[in-house]
Amino acid sequence: NTGRLAVLGSINADHIINLVQFPRPGETVIGKQYQVAFGGKGANQAVAAGRSGADVAFIACVGHDDTGESILKQLADDGIDVTPVAIVDGESTGVALIFVNGEGENSIGIYAGANAALSPERVKQHHQVIAGADALLIQLESPLDSVLTAARIARQNKTQVILNPAPATELSDELLALVDMITPNETEAQILTGVVVKNDDDAAKAAGILHAKGIDRVLITLGRRGVWLSERGCGQHIPGFDVAAVDTIGAGDTFNGALMTALLEQQTMTGSVRFAHAAAAIAVTRHGAQPSVPWREEIERFLQDQG
Ligand code: RIB
Ligand code: NA
Repeated sequence: NTGRLAVLGSINADHIINLVQFPRPGETVIGKQYQVAFGGKGANQAVAAGRSGADVAFIACVGHDDTGESILKQLADDGIDVTPVAIVDGESTGVALIFVNGEGENSIGIYAGANAALSPERVKQHHQVIAGADALLIQLESPLDSVLTAARIARQNKTQVILNPAPATELSDELLALVDMITPNETEAQILTGVVVKNDDDAAKAAGILHAKGIDRVLITLGRRGVWLSERGCGQHIPGFDVAAVDTIGAGDTFNGALMTALLEQQTMTGSVRFAHAAAAIAVTRHGAQPSVPWREEIERFLQDQG
């Protein structure tokens, strides 16, 4: 008994090197570990929603290459409807080069490749996928005019629009006015509102500005401290779960995907955030983005163990 989710976004092959310290300009640092794993914010969120139990259709682009082919196969194995994913000739599948240092921090360089070919025209071809869904989940690793096009189609068809504004960038009021729920982290909230978010008061202030731009639900993620949830004038802090993190790549994506699953099942807002916190807590204990995304059984077991 779950609604249908449309995700629009990026697909990347993540090349991850773990090293003690990030190389400085001109410096070469020998890594301790290397892994190629499937990533991309859109794909990670689609996988997190799918594995946690949602019915997901994914609108994206890959290149006409082996990487694109294996990523598509993996997404289909995860139960995601990949019919709206285009294979683009002459482009390579998106790539993310990621360094993870000894503190578990990461530094990421991205080559969009085929993700840049997800044009407004392509989005319009999937009008029905968006119009027929109960919710549309979008991020900012796709061309902005395409994100806007998708949000417009959603709004015209009463599909809820959820925007995870990552990676951080300034956004037009026009796009923000089409969003029903936004999930920025502290940095993204600052770029969108000008408020430096250091505590709950700051989060409430930033949320107020986003409400004024037309967004009903604001959920600011505060890293280890959990989230600030604000529903038009009514804000509350919801703590996360404390776990020993080995790799936070894709943790935010896991949070967003699992949150959608719970919301589409009509779980309460606070129950949904708890479900999403649990999914993200499991993801940070594992390496890589998509390889770290948990299945529903694991999330439920984790929640049971928490009591
Ligand atoms: O959010 C994590 C993702 O950001 C990685 O999977 C990488 O592909 C980058 O897009
Ligand atoms: Na991880």
